[in-house]
Amino acid sequence: MTEVARAVPPVLRSKAALRAAVGGWQAAGEIVGVVPTMGALHEGHLSLVRAAEASCDRVVVTIFVNPAQFNNPSDLESYPRTEEADAEKLSRRRVDAIYAPPVSEIYPGGFCTTVSVAGLTDVLCGAHRPGHFDGVATVVTKLFTQTRADRAFFGEKDFQQLQVIRRLVRDLDLEVEVTGCPTIREEDGTAMSSRNLLLSDRARVRAPALHEALQEMAEGLRAGGQASELGAAARARLLAAGFSGVDYIDLRACDDLSLLETPTREARLLAAAWLAGVRLIDNIAV
Ligand code: PAF
Repeated sequence: MTEVARAVPPVLRSKAALRAAVGGWQAAGEIVGVVPTMGALHEGHLSLVRAAEASCDRVVVTIFVNPAQFNNPSDLESYPRTEEADAEKLSRRRVDAIYAPPVSEIYPGGFCTTVSVAGLTDVLCGAHRPGHFDGVATVVTKLFTQTRADRAFFGEKDFQQLQVIRRLVRDLDLEVEVTGCPTIREEDGTAMSSRNLLLSDRARVRAPALHEALQEMAEGLRAGGQASELGAAARARLLAAGFSGVDYIDLRACDDLSLLETPTREARLLAAAWLAGVRLIDNIAV
């Protein structure tokens, strides 16, 4: 695919500047797409930008490391921040603006509202990262209301997040169409993630075991196995491969994320596991 180097897209820091730009485009009848990110952009994010380019007249990429979704201060501190390199990558795409607000533009003094999606957030990452999805739901709602975008693009790699966002859009009647885009993988099968940057070379070579464990579990299900037994074997395999802990490796229904033993409805295998102090997540359809 040819990449055309363009000028770095304008970086907007205030919602007033953002709304002026988006309002002008929409007044001219243009469809505006938003790709919310926390930066440290990789091919996975760029695939979302491509999806936005393909179905929207204008594309806004937001870059905001959202403090409200980190339940661990050292995780927030160590999260990679690479705005200049991100802007350079986006200059190769058809991106009309980067919205990179300061924390005060999203959470002004006295901010005290939380968007909380019950049920879907009680399980999987929600059970292991208290408050995480409230932080995600709140910031995504704010990014939607600040950008007033017509369409929004999220990766299936964060499958639970995608379902939470779909539900909040439905429940709050937000006028934005949400599209989920397939996970982009490294050659060794590892799902692309900004967190991969935190792995040492030694740990990075072990990371593909997560995707392999999910694939093996999917094969077991196809052969008639039960998710709980296959999950126990996958857990042991990950620990043997050098992971220090497994938060979950579950078969879940796509719509309400309820636990399944066999894929009797549209289902997904989802996992979260710790490698050298870094929490990796992945999921595959079954
Ligand atoms: O997936 C992410 O990068 C973040 O959770 C999101 C959706 C940008 C909200 O901060």
